Amino acid sequence: MNTSSCIGISTMKPCCRILIGYRISSIFGVSHIRSNHKIVNNSSKLHSKSKLSCYNDAKCKVIGHKKGVIDLNRRAFFASGSNWGESKILGKNKLGVNKDSSRGILVIPHVASDFRNHSTSIDSHVSEKGFESIYIQGGLNVKPFVIEKIENGNEVVKEDESRVQVNGSGVNLDILKDLNENVETESEASNIEKEAWKLLRDAVVNYCGNPVGTVAANNPADKQPLNYDQVFIRDFVPSALAFLLNGEGEIVKNFLLHTLQLQSWEKTVDCYSPGQGLMPASFKVRTVPLDGADGTLEEVLDPDFGESAIGRVAPVDSGLWWIILLRAYGKITGDYALQERVDVQTGIRLILNLCLTDGFDMFPSLLVTDGSCMIDRRMGIHGHPLEIQSLFYSALRCSREMLIVNDGTKNLVAAINNRLSALSFHVREYYWVDMMKINEIYRYKTEEYSVDAINKFNIYPDQIPSWLVDWIPNEGGYLIGNLEPGHMDFRFFTLGNLWAIVSSLGTARQNEGILNLIEAKWDDLVAHMPLKICYPALEYEEWRIITGGDPKNTPWSYHNGGSWPTLLWQFTLACIKMGRPELAEKAVAMAEKRLSVDQWPEYYDTQSGRFIGKQSRLHQTWTIAGYLTSKMLLENPAKASLLFWEEDYELLENCVCALSKTGRKKCLRFAARSQIRV
Ligand code: GLC
Repeated sequence: MNTSSCIGISTMKPCCRILIGYRISSIFGVSHIRSNHKIVNNSSKLHSKSKLSCYNDAKCKVIGHKKGVIDLNRRAFFASGSNWGESKILGKNKLGVNKDSSRGILVIPHVASDFRNHSTSIDSHVSEKGFESIYIQGGLNVKPFVIEKIENGNEVVKEDESRVQVNGSGVNLDILKDLNENVETESEASNIEKEAWKLLRDAVVNYCGNPVGTVAANNPADKQPLNYDQVFIRDFVPSALAFLLNGEGEIVKNFLLHTLQLQSWEKTVDCYSPGQGLMPASFKVRTVPLDGADGTLEEVLDPDFGESAIGRVAPVDSGLWWIILLRAYGKITGDYALQERVDVQTGIRLILNLCLTDGFDMFPSLLVTDGSCMIDRRMGIHGHPLEIQSLFYSALRCSREMLIVNDGTKNLVAAINNRLSALSFHVREYYWVDMMKINEIYRYKTEEYSVDAINKFNIYPDQIPSWLVDWIPNEGGYLIGNLEPGHMDFRFFTLGNLWAIVSSLGTARQNEGILNLIEAKWDDLVAHMPLKICYPALEYEEWRIITGGDPKNTPWSYHNGGSWPTLLWQFTLACIKMGRPELAEKAVAMAEKRLSVDQWPEYYDTQSGRFIGKQSRLHQTWTIAGYLTSKMLLENPAKASLLFWEEDYELLENCVCALSKTGRKKCLRFAARSQIRV
């Protein structure tokens, strides 16, 4: 096997090509290219950071350098948009397929769970097509971006004017007052939606002339955008859903494919390279002078894997979100060809390999550093934070639906099934608290040494915070923020709890309980602006020690108990799933009153969310997109149902520890399981 390899993604428009050249690192000092591929490869120079680039003379290229051996599937992949002009790249057998070419004859590939076959969406593109056509469709050469509603400021104004005209037309407003009030509220809402669409479209980032994402914030008055002018993976998810629900798939497809290319980039932080499957936190399209070409500029994609991010935090959630979005794309568009592409399947596998790697863990939950998710700075959530576990569980469920089972993946699929089963058990059993459970913890014995211990993590009852004693309602409960040996973080973290509902990580009863708690604690978790990122805030010494005295994360601000409107769409999804859309409608109606007036802030401050956040960005894209997505989900619950999961009873029955089979030791999971009421 040749250690040097090249991967070409060729999407040829008459004057545009994108090429990736992979080479072994300069340590080996060699870079050779497979002779049957014409590759643009900057082999004479090894940039410290490889770039995906596009010349502004309309020639686009990707130049990448990869250390070490490339995965077989990935090496073999070529996508060619044939009707974009003459493709100069030919893969091994023209289709660029060697190992997996047999997949071309599958009508519906054998994926790891048959969930898709029960889906309401259409399995269109796959059937009766050979690999060639799938592979061509799977390239970047897709239908032109169809903008169904182009709203601009003038049009919004026009509509306002027409309303004034109606009002001035002699209609008896007194008699029709109630009716008019409703109409006005509705039309106000639709004006807000129009404004939101305009802002969302303004936030779109193009690369080589194609839309590839949205910037995190797009406030022209912002003199110091920091990295808010980048496309964040997690921030793009609500934008993507808004576009998908509006029938616009291209931007999402481009985003998924471009971030996939960034996944395998050479990335180093002080000479240390993180794992291959890591997805960047964000990327930026930069226009830079082309080496050696006077005056010519090129566009490059510049990813940030945490090497520039404040605190150098690893974006563990990026890969999980990428998988979740990939599945959503298939579900909503019916274009499953994308997820079946060899390079995309490889991308899924790389992410999962990273997550499923053996370590020193005693728990099935994913071990991460502080700030590895939406809360991307120190907030005392290192270890096994709920948000990561919920996203991990969701991503595993997505992968199970999308991975094509073959000899190369069957072990991975088995590992996914095992992990899903163990993880749901672990979270349901040990993260869940309600009145009864807290009372149980309150009476815990400690220092229990044995496999039969009740208080497995040696939690001292004194850890139960005083706020919780009065706060926990009689009905309902929630999943705690983190669980470590000797430590339960009892804070309520919204995103993790909402995704536990959406993915059915919690039992049906627990999911119900979480929504009940949010309803019962509305004034604490929603108040003037949905929704608190976590509750309560860290204060005084606790704030100083846990955040390191972070002036941005002061009590009831930003990540420390601030209110984040972007959480609205996940709340809406959870409410629709649990048959409680009215709760979401209430929250959306409240947000609607303020978001546009306040210029779509990133977050709100104070215990009741009354003030725009101290350092909050305005025109924050995921605030805008979260609002639009919530509205569309409420209008179209059938589409919403494509985005959540019901309980998987097969997983529930599946105890994988094998202890019961050997009979030598007792499987403690079954002993504990009696406590989980599904
Ligand atoms: C902040 C948020 C993070 C988000 C980023 C861009 O750092 O904590 O979750 O992705 O801003 O909006």
